[in-house]
Amino acid sequence: MSVRENARTLATTNRGCENAPAHLEKPPDPATLIAALEDRGRTPSQARLRRRFLRFARIAPGQRVLEVGSGSGVVARDVAAIVGKGGHVVGVDSGRMVIAVARRLARRASLDGHLEFRVADAARLPFRPRRFDTAIAVTLLLHVDRPAAVLSEMIRVTRSGGTVGAQDQDFGTLALTHPDPALTARILDAVAKSRYAEPCSGRRLPGLFAAAGLRRVRVLADVYQDTTLGSYTRTFLERRAEHAVRLGITDPAGAQRWLDGFVTLARAGAFVMTLNYYGVTGVKA
Ligand SMILES: C[S@@+](CC[C@H](N)C(=O)[O-])C[C@H]1O[C@@H](n2cnc3c(N)ncnc32)[C@H](O)[C@@H]1O
Repeated sequence: MSVRENARTLATTNRGCENAPAHLEKPPDPATLIAALEDRGRTPSQARLRRRFLRFARIAPGQRVLEVGSGSGVVARDVAAIVGKGGHVVGVDSGRMVIAVARRLARRASLDGHLEFRVADAARLPFRPRRFDTAIAVTLLLHVDRPAAVLSEMIRVTRSGGTVGAQDQDFGTLALTHPDPALTARILDAVAKSRYAEPCSGRRLPGLFAAAGLRRVRVLADVYQDTTLGSYTRTFLERRAEHAVRLGITDPAGAQRWLDGFVTLARAGAFVMTLNYYGVTGVKA
């Protein structure tokens, strides 16, 4: 594990979970984002919680499903495998490069016959009303300034009686073992606030869904768990170390020592990371 210095500037915020920050750090460049999403997608604990959510959302063969904020297509490919050739899946993302990669990966998996991707803003979907049986957003809403506007669009394009679903992490639940818990808490807190419009989005999804008028709102809490310091967790922590340097919480040497602390714990069999994910579904009246 190593800390890479990065010259990008950052507008810091001092806000807590309760307040939406006014200035967020720029999202990662598309290549970094795609690599991280695919790495996360391959990680067994992540694949399990993603697929549990898709079962919870009752995605079934033959359905027409929309995923907003589809990234490189990890979730959409799983959905396409469930709905089969009798169904149809559309992934929408605002990033042109991620959409190009998502199309390539869908072709490689021979899913492109019933899985398509479009560049669009999730808050202004280019679809007629009631086109889909199900609309989902996985780890999108915590990133957007106006999650209610995105949800409203998801509801508009879902048929009456159809399902709208979202799954988000909740960074207020991130637990990590480390020899310096105070520094760890400072880094995690500051980085979450600088990276996500709503770091504690997970716990807020049921309220968001109820306020949008969805019926039969249900919640599935799940947990990402790693005790081996696997590839996705390592990258996740390295990104936090880089951010901590940019935020002025520590210098590169201190960030490297912080990362080394996790490696030492992992070698001793004492490393634990857990992060809660909340899946929520509601039915359109
Ligand atoms: C964390 S990724 C999640 C990707 C995918 N759902 C997954 O779990 O692998 C969030 C994605 O949402 C996209 N995104 C962010 N804001 C968006 C918006 N307003 N409209 C559409 N896509 C957006 C980003 O480009 C990014 O690809």
